[in-house]
Amino acid sequence: MAKVAIIGQGYVGLTIAAFASKTNQVVGFDSNQKVVNQLNQGYSHIEGVDGATLTTALSSGNYRASTNGADISDAEIVVIAVPTPLDSERKPDLAFIESACKTIAENVNHPVLVINESTSFPGTIRNFIKPMIEKLSASKIEHEYAISPERVDPGRIDWDQKNTPRLYAGLTPSASKRTRDFYSTFCDNLVEVSSPEVAEAAKLFENTFRQVNIALVNEFAQITHALGISVHETLDAANTKPYGFMKFSPSAGVGGHCIPVDPSYLAHVAEELGVPATFIERANEVNLEMPKYVVSRVMADNGGSLKGKKVQLIGVSYKPNVADTRETPAELVIEALKHAGAEVSWHDDVVGTWKGAQSSPLGGAEIAIVVTLHNAVDKNAVIVSAPYVFDTTGKIEGVNGL
Ligand SMILES: NC(=O)c1ccc[n+]([C@@H]2O[C@H](COP(=O)([O-])OP(=O)(O)OC[C@H]3O[C@@H](n4cnc5c(N)ncnc54)[C@H](O)[C@@H]3O)[C@@H](O)[C@H]2O)c1
Repeated sequence: MAKVAIIGQGYVGLTIAAFASKTNQVVGFDSNQKVVNQLNQGYSHIEGVDGATLTTALSSGNYRASTNGADISDAEIVVIAVPTPLDSERKPDLAFIESACKTIAENVNHPVLVINESTSFPGTIRNFIKPMIEKLSASKIEHEYAISPERVDPGRIDWDQKNTPRLYAGLTPSASKRTRDFYSTFCDNLVEVSSPEVAEAAKLFENTFRQVNIALVNEFAQITHALGISVHETLDAANTKPYGFMKFSPSAGVGGHCIPVDPSYLAHVAEELGVPATFIERANEVNLEMPKYVVSRVMADNGGSLKGKKVQLIGVSYKPNVADTRETPAELVIEALKHAGAEVSWHDDVVGTWKGAQSSPLGGAEIAIVVTLHNAVDKNAVIVSAPYVFDTTGKIEGVNGL
């Protein structure tokens, strides 16, 4: 049973903690006191880790959350699972990683294995995290370093930490072995690659592949609309090909911490190396333009103007069955609607509170736009919620939509 500290108790860190604490002693370190207090009371703030799992972990004595750096001082393994957003110029922002390095440097005074699970560009563990911890440490300590990029898909139950193959690589053979030993306590399928850079790049390419294909299908939806044919029927037709095709569905755009963000980490590296990343840049533009396209379609169907019209957005999280609103395309749809002079409300009981406002009851508007359809939402209730309904998800039959 290893002593493990996990820095960051959000979607990634808490999910790892829930699995790892079955066979390891885990301290979940987070800088957010409110989150830590809630976790220690058995309240989980993320989908995928329920209160019962957390309570079992707490009462087994194998898990506790803390904001106190001293609580990670006796760890043997430290996992970094902090945000890696973009800055105002859409460039990688490693400030949270830097602060996690500071926590390690200030509190861990013996050699440990540091594993980074946060998504970042190739070279982050070798050229940023290792030198940063060494620079910030008071004395020279030879930690070991490895990367194991996280692939969790919050809200998903068929693929979890146990059965999703996990990539990993250490900076040294010993770090690789220790990383394998740790993850094999709760993950069935470990895939070692030849260097940390391969694992880091593979993670970025996985999400870039999704971003580019989503942009392609979003552009295709605009072409099929101009052709006067159904994008969904056309995609289903293409999908009858048993090889060489993978179906993606159009939407109001992409959201979350990964798909709108990670490809820009790859584009940043490409720029530094002087090689083109044209697909990433264009895919990002196409996806960011989708909310305006949706609003233009709604406007065209409603006499060419939305001025003074009551419009309700249904579903404002970035994907079904999660409360996560980071980078949600709903925000840009609302912005475009307001710009067109509409009076906008939103309904999403999974999200509940967003930007200081509460979810409004379903209905009462002249126009409804479905951005995200949670399983708990009754499709028939959506259909009758407004005289005009526009569905961006392709899941509601008999209404207008992409
Ligand atoms: N959410 C996903 O679906 C997903 C999937 C795969 C990979 N990732 C990657 O994993 C990383 C973490 O993402 P997330 O979704 O778990 O983020 P999150 O925002 O859900 O959680 C991050 C947590 O880290 C805490 N934190 C921030 N800085 C800290 C610090 N210096 N010390 C201690 N705690 C700190 C925050 O308070 C927060 O609770 C990112 O790099 C992300 O790209 C996320």
